Amino acid sequence: MARKTIIAGNWKMNLLPEEGEMLVLSLKTTFENKKNLEVVVFPSIGMIPFAREWIYDSPLRYGAQNCWCEVSGAYTGETSPELLKSLGCSYCLVGHSERREIFEESNELVGRKSQALIEMGIIPIVCVGESLEEREAETHLEKIQQQVESVFAAVEKENWIRLVFAYEPIWAIGTGKTATPKQAEDIHQLIRRIIEQESGDVLANGISILYGGSAKPSNAAELLSQENIDGLLVGGASLIAEDFSKIIKAY
Ligand code: PGA
Repeated sequence: MARKTIIAGNWKMNLLPEEGEMLVLSLKTTFENKKNLEVVVFPSIGMIPFAREWIYDSPLRYGAQNCWCEVSGAYTGETSPELLKSLGCSYCLVGHSERREIFEESNELVGRKSQALIEMGIIPIVCVGESLEEREAETHLEKIQQQVESVFAAVEKENWIRLVFAYEPIWAIGTGKTATPKQAEDIHQLIRRIIEQESGDVLANGISILYGGSAKPSNAAELLSQENIDGLLVGGASLIAEDFSKIIKAY
């Protein structure tokens, strides 16, 4: 089964609507639609209705950076997967390390959010990854295994094929320090092995695993050339139209 390549731009809590619009307009003029490639932007939640307008006549896709784990209800200040669906989001990030660290999101919560999104037909991009301390203490493999397994525990088996994972070592996020292609590929292989153990070969080969952490024009092609790296989740460089376009062209 051919895996989809996904180049995703996580805008985080950056950009105002005028800036977002300029960025999308610029991407629309440079982006060439390629088979099996999906380019997705993740504006902050308040900009999504605008993003829908900017993007509607293009093959670009858009998604949300977070949501709650129930489809709707009395959860003041949260965003429902049902709303994301009605706004036309194709994807939603789940368990980004900033959410896990700053907002103390647990593996269990990340799993529940993934299931709620799938119920609404939205593809969760589940972020996993270790801190520098965990890598140095060599506890990172175990941590990543738990992060991945908890998603499989929460999502119904028939929907496992809709999952996307993103390996994002925390020490590489926003630091300019990228994991080497070999370091990234090793962990991607491990994640694929975990998926295989959970589900069997066919599924393991069909699930896309993205890399994130200081991805930029100068390292995108080499990262993307690794056998088990099926795309990139880009933070800082996705805010600069020229850089993000170069990263897309690296595929
Ligand atoms: P970065 O962020 O590319 O700025 O390191 C990646 C991310 O947080 O998804």
